[in-house]
Amino acid sequence: MTEHREDKAGDFSGDMGLAVVPMAVDQGLVGVMRVPGDKSISHRSIILGAVAEGETVVHGLLEGEDVLRTRDAFRAMGVEIERREGVYHIQGVGLDGLSEPDRVLDMGNSGTGMRLLTGLLASQPFFSVVTGDDSLRTRPMGRVIKPLTRMGAVIMGRDGGRLAPLAIQGRDLLPLEHDTGVASAQVKSAILLAGLNTAGITQVTEPALSRDHTERMFTGFGARVHRDGLTVTVEGWPSLQGQTIRVPGDISSAAFFIVAALLCRGSDLLIEGVGVNPTRTGLLDLLGAMGAGLRLSNERLEGGEPVADIRVGFAELQGIEVPPEVIPRAIDEFPIFFVAASLAHGKTVVAGAGELLHKESDRIRAMAVGLSRLGAQVEEGADGLIIHGRPEGLAGGVEVDSMTDHRVAMSLVVAGLRCQKGVKILRTDNIATSFPDFVPRMGELGVSLSPVWRDR
Ligand code: S3P
Repeated sequence: MTEHREDKAGDFSGDMGLAVVPMAVDQGLVGVMRVPGDKSISHRSIILGAVAEGETVVHGLLEGEDVLRTRDAFRAMGVEIERREGVYHIQGVGLDGLSEPDRVLDMGNSGTGMRLLTGLLASQPFFSVVTGDDSLRTRPMGRVIKPLTRMGAVIMGRDGGRLAPLAIQGRDLLPLEHDTGVASAQVKSAILLAGLNTAGITQVTEPALSRDHTERMFTGFGARVHRDGLTVTVEGWPSLQGQTIRVPGDISSAAFFIVAALLCRGSDLLIEGVGVNPTRTGLLDLLGAMGAGLRLSNERLEGGEPVADIRVGFAELQGIEVPPEVIPRAIDEFPIFFVAASLAHGKTVVAGAGELLHKESDRIRAMAVGLSRLGAQVEEGADGLIIHGRPEGLAGGVEVDSMTDHRVAMSLVVAGLRCQKGVKILRTDNIATSFPDFVPRMGELGVSLSPVWRDR
């Protein structure tokens, strides 16, 4: 695969696709598996490990492109990060030990990498520039730049400071009390990271609780974090101590296998060691409301994060109206949720999910177009979709574009399993940003996926 790509001249990124062979009737996904490490927790373990004192050891780090960009950014700022037998060893330099990078920090496709880094860099006494790929350079950065600017940060970006590349002249900041107005863990975390290196107490309030991995990990490293409802505070200049971290499996990656198993008759799948932080389990609640019998077992706490094994089998799903309060807890799972809805009985309604417009693609548009092409009945709204399910299966027999979005690509692959005819999903390279071994893992469960190349 790689060889073939390198044979070609020019920039062929986004050129690979996947041909999906539909599952036979009664062919389910059967087995025991694990999914790679949680992406959000992996980014944060590198960031905090880098600015703590002493060594941080990370087991199960997600070796997806997004996280490796964060690793490379910290290497470029003088942090020693070594991989030994699959375990990452980060030699922390302390909050004042990073050095000015002599190159542009390219965060690739990663909004988390860019936004969290921008928060941290705003308070570092040096100049830096962060950029990203075609998708990331269209995503809104004003939501972090505005509050950071109120703390005294000096950040310039394209389009009046709304788009990357961003140029950051770090300096001492003032603590802030900020109301984010949007449930975004990236915005919250960017401000909290700026607050770490800022004397005084920095406070963030959000309209609904977004994923709280930053707060949990800050506490684990020894920062003083206090939560009161939807408000969280951090005290500046803590003494952060290197930790040993075991990254749980990413529920956002498990989601594709959970829905695939639910949709294919004869499935019986056990996914071990999945992170089930309540700020991330909205999809499980939605699928439960649709009639899925998901069983969680072996529930435990690992390094401050809840973890469990999840068992799932085929179910006849019923359409639902998605309660708006669940949306932040399922935000990354809507592409695959839409697939479940398109093969359920009856109607599913999602509204109030406008944040989906700002992900790696406009996920409302991408899924409306993709699922419609496969033969689903979908009405696109301004901030959601209405889907009339077709439990008998979709037509397929077409090519569909993932819009270079990893989660859209994997979701459309799962939809392809329940099509009458084979489908090709185009521009799937970015699956490697979050789930590099998605194709072989599916293969182990009897799913036939093969790479296809677009003719030029
Ligand atoms: C993330 C936060 C979410 C999520 C993203 C990861 C994080 O983004 O969609 O995949 O690790 O903080 P928003 O903060 O934009 O909601």
